[in-house]
Amino acid sequence: MTPIQNCIINKKTTNNPIWLMRQAGRYLPEFRKIRKTNPNFINLCLNHNIASEITLQPLKRFELDAAIIFSDILLVPYGLNQEVEFKKDFGPILGSINLDEISNINEKDFLKKLNPVYKLIKKVRKNILTLNKDVIGFIGGPWTLLVYMINKHSPKKKITKDFFKNKILIKKILIILEKFLKIHINQQIKSGATIIQIFDSWSGLLEEKDLPTYVYKPTINLVNYIKSLNIPVICFPRGIKNYKKFCENVKPDVISIDYDVDPISILKEIQIPVQGGLNPKALLTDKENLKKETLKYLNIFKDHPYIFNLGHGVVPKTDPMKVDYLVKLVKNY
Ligand code: CP3
Repeated sequence: MTPIQNCIINKKTTNNPIWLMRQAGRYLPEFRKIRKTNPNFINLCLNHNIASEITLQPLKRFELDAAIIFSDILLVPYGLNQEVEFKKDFGPILGSINLDEISNINEKDFLKKLNPVYKLIKKVRKNILTLNKDVIGFIGGPWTLLVYMINKHSPKKKITKDFFKNKILIKKILIILEKFLKIHINQQIKSGATIIQIFDSWSGLLEEKDLPTYVYKPTINLVNYIKSLNIPVICFPRGIKNYKKFCENVKPDVISIDYDVDPISILKEIQIPVQGGLNPKALLTDKENLKKETLKYLNIFKDHPYIFNLGHGVVPKTDPMKVDYLVKLVKNY
């Protein structure tokens, strides 16, 4: 059994498993080199040879316990024929939604568009670098995808007042997303993903009263689906504040926490395995401070099933040597 599965399934607390969100990406010079000659990010994600190589890059450098596939949550709207483009120094930009078009898309066309993702997973699974390690597949949470599909770009700190104006459209998109996210999850698992993480990056934008409709309910359906396939599911409802209530409602196998939440209260309130928390900016500080911040999380969760990770993705300015230092600190704890 892999170190991460041992933590999740057997609730083992002694092998300090670790992987990092955005472990494959812009802070690695070997990634930047590839990126330079591949200006179209979506095409890069859909090149299964290069995307599998990028997925494995961090495993060549660091003693990580999992590979997360090099892909993006916005490949699902792309698979549904919404235009998706990544603009340098701005982020994603999506095209307008044609409800007729996304309502008519069939499973076969969707799978044809996303087939390179599944090929990449098969390649990564077969590579010796992932032996006795997990291969993490992922999706965006339905709420976060809805935010991108309607808002068309990152909302930063808030969504506009008229976001909820077209309730019929929202309802239809959520139904379509549930269907295709299940298909996407199923294919990732069939191809060799051993864990699924649900990234609900914009959970924190909702008021408490709207969480059941937009986060709990749609996520429960997917969590139950993943559980029915006998694969562990990690939920990362970033910024949700009330993680306890989220866990009581959604019941994931693991809860991934952001860096704004107090880890001591998480330990007191939550029984299931916990992942993450360390502020990615700690990797931009000196080793002494990085060590202090890392030990804080390790000490708090030393008797709790805990997967070491960050409270959000590795930032582009990070020095890979600091990542190396962090991984060794955790492994030698
Ligand atoms: O974690 C990993 O190493 C796997 C790869 C991964 C990417 N995106 C690659 C990527 C994962 C898990 C994601 C998920 C994702 N994508 C999320 C959820 C996690 C989060 O960050 O909250 C979201 C919201 C997206 C959408 C997205 N993709 C944005 C907003 C951006 C631009 C801003 C940014 O943070 O880079 C991307 C681009 C993106 N996705 C890059 C990478 C490596 C950078 C692309 C580049 O080189 O320009």
